[in-house]
Amino acid sequence: MSPIDRRTFVRRSLGLAGAAGAGALGAERLSGPATARADDDVAETAREQGIENGILDTVAFDGPHQGGILTPVQAHATVAALDAVAPDRTTLMYALQALSARARTLAVGGVTPRFEVDDPPVDSGVLGPDIAPGGLTVTIGFGVSLFDDRYGLKDKKPEKLERMPPFAGEDLDASQTHGDVLVQICANQRDTVVHTLREIMRATRGALELRWAVDGFAGARRGPTPRASPRNLFAFRDGTANPDVRDDAAMRRLVWDAQGGSYQVVRLIRMHVEFWDRVGLREQETMIGRTRDTGAPLGGDDEFQDPRYDIDPKGDRIPLDAHIRLANPRTRATEDQRFLRRPYNYHRGFDSAGSLDQGMVFMAYNQDPARQFATVQNRLAGEPMTDYFTHVGGGYFYAPRGTGGKAGWIGQDLFA
Ligand code: HEM
Repeated sequence: MSPIDRRTFVRRSLGLAGAAGAGALGAERLSGPATARADDDVAETAREQGIENGILDTVAFDGPHQGGILTPVQAHATVAALDAVAPDRTTLMYALQALSARARTLAVGGVTPRFEVDDPPVDSGVLGPDIAPGGLTVTIGFGVSLFDDRYGLKDKKPEKLERMPPFAGEDLDASQTHGDVLVQICANQRDTVVHTLREIMRATRGALELRWAVDGFAGARRGPTPRASPRNLFAFRDGTANPDVRDDAAMRRLVWDAQGGSYQVVRLIRMHVEFWDRVGLREQETMIGRTRDTGAPLGGDDEFQDPRYDIDPKGDRIPLDAHIRLANPRTRATEDQRFLRRPYNYHRGFDSAGSLDQGMVFMAYNQDPARQFATVQNRLAGEPMTDYFTHVGGGYFYAPRGTGGKAGWIGQDLFA
């Protein structure tokens, strides 16, 4: 949102300018010449009311790539896998068009148009009549099952899209695994995410149904520096060694395929936090290969230091089976196995034994799941940390290229 739009939104939300309600969502903005003094007042009032808290951020829905992949990680997420129940191909196509249209509208924000009072409102209204974008991204992906013989999409299957294979020792819960369509909804506020899911389900009713969903939250950035990574629920800093999203060449090598899409891996990993909390700190750090406090590789003092496996060939400092060493041995041969992680923590109550149901919605974007994610996952089989988590669900999906422009929609290439 530009500064002008931001001021306009704030003014409107605070009832400082004219009648709200004119214009379609995101189309017209009430604006006018504002004095610097008035702007200061608006900003001040907004701050007092707490509405500057990322609520006005926007992330473009349209572009060469979908949002929610390289764009900054928002505080809240819902990942929902949907089954296609559309009776025919055309209904599915309209539903996917509606999905993108709704996602775009909500990502821009604006005033909900009002029709006759007796009609159901065009928006549930949970975020009020003037919807703030809240940094929303909706990332849309397709599972391999969408390309079966139901909708005539067989020959459109993305080349490297497969059903997620079972990995060693796993017994995934079928009710939390796979799906025809995946929506990854992320925003700065929880209510923005919840509202978006509800609107998406309404827009695609009769064509897409919920199969499973999980809510995630990011650890807050607590320093000590702005760059310091937030922590996961094992209390270790997470995201440190991710490839740099500003490095276009690396993104082209590791994340995007030739079309500008990306293969998305979702893994629901329950973490047995009660057991983890009974493990000695040194042992925890040995399993990960990093210091819990700073996130530095063992023996180092800075989170972003190179672990220098070359001068520790026997694993005296960082064990050969430490999580980070197995995940990325940092050799020339394993360089093209790296990928972008975008995980969230989850907490969803407790089980019948009274144990906390907490864990990680592990999400990764890569160019070739067999070459990258699966190779790493196989290498991690049997790592010491295995005793402290259980894989329960997830799936492989393909997030196509971005829409390119406002007339486009995610999935259009399937129906071309
Ligand atoms: C409960 C499960 C997991 C926990 C608690 C966990 C934790 C961590 C931590 C603390 C780090 C170090 C900080 C960082 O670079 O982000 C890390 C790095 C990493 N993890 Fe995990 N992780 C988990 C699951 C996985 C899975 C399933 C994979 C992939 C199959 C994976 C792949 C990686 C990779 C590639 C790195 C970066 C290694 C490097 O380049 O140095 N992790 N993880």
